[in-house]
Amino acid sequence: MGLATFARVARELREDLTAAQERDPAARSVGRVEMLLTYGGVQALLSHRISHALYEAGVPLAPRFLANVTKILTGIEIHPAAKIGRGLFMDHGAGIVIGETAELGDDVTMYQGVTLGGTGFARGKRHPTVGDQVMIGAGAKLLGPIRIGDRSKVGANSVVIHDVPPNSTVVGNPGHPVRVDGRRPDGPDADWAHLPDPVADAIRGLADRLTEVEELLAELTGRRPEHAEVRPLKRRGGPDSTGG
Ligand SMILES: CC(C)(COP(=O)(O)OP(=O)(O)OC[C@H]1O[C@@H](n2cnc3c(N)ncnc32)[C@H](O)[C@@H]1OP(=O)(O)O)[C@@H](O)C(=O)NCCC(=O)NCCS
Repeated sequence: MGLATFARVARELREDLTAAQERDPAARSVGRVEMLLTYGGVQALLSHRISHALYEAGVPLAPRFLANVTKILTGIEIHPAAKIGRGLFMDHGAGIVIGETAELGDDVTMYQGVTLGGTGFARGKRHPTVGDQVMIGAGAKLLGPIRIGDRSKVGANSVVIHDVPPNSTVVGNPGHPVRVDGRRPDGPDADWAHLPDPVADAIRGLADRLTEVEELLAELTGRRPEHAEVRPLKRRGGPDSTGG
């Protein structure tokens, strides 16, 4: 730890503030001091810059203590060992968790409730690597040592467990690409938006069988069953299940 480390943390802070000003539509007229005092994401990142520098310098306890105090104050938990590039912006921030072996490129944007986590009790590299200029929507969970390609977008509430190519949009659970280089992906398995629904099919089959039994009973007894309203489980046509 020396002057060079302080200079680096100061430069990182300047870049983080610029990122917040540029990417938060509500922050256009907010000054840097106000931002530092009122933006939990900016505060958590500044704290991480310091705890990461302490961690790299081999200082015991203090980095994790600082990270824990930051979690209590901001609701954002970043492991001191996590590697974070320039200009990260955590909008709203609360509920964000960034694990020990996570790596983030430059100019990443993420919203509240994002998890960059592991999938189990594996050791070693077990958290995601996120490329440059990636956007991760609110509530998205990125799990395991996966790689999110540069300039990709992860939809809100997605659960991503596989690598994501650059310039893609992934949505859903499990996360799947709905756009790659601005186009819908091709191929027989590419239409994730209109997947078969086996549970709905089974219930529909049962309803058909029941109707047959009722008709048979009506023939035998001469009594018509009371009218029962049967509503479709899923709207036919219209917006599909991945409609956001
Ligand atoms: C995914 C997202 C980035 C849009 O990316 P895009 O590349 O512009 O993609 P589109 O809007 O063209 O959507 C692509 C498809 O994914 C679907 N989709 C978009 N977001 C989705 C989501 N979060 N979950 C499920 N499906 C989603 C769209 O309906 C569309 O489906 P289609 O192919 O059947 O038309 C955006 O919808 C999103 O989730 N942003 C997160 C914003 C956020 O977290 N804001 C919090 C502010 S507090």
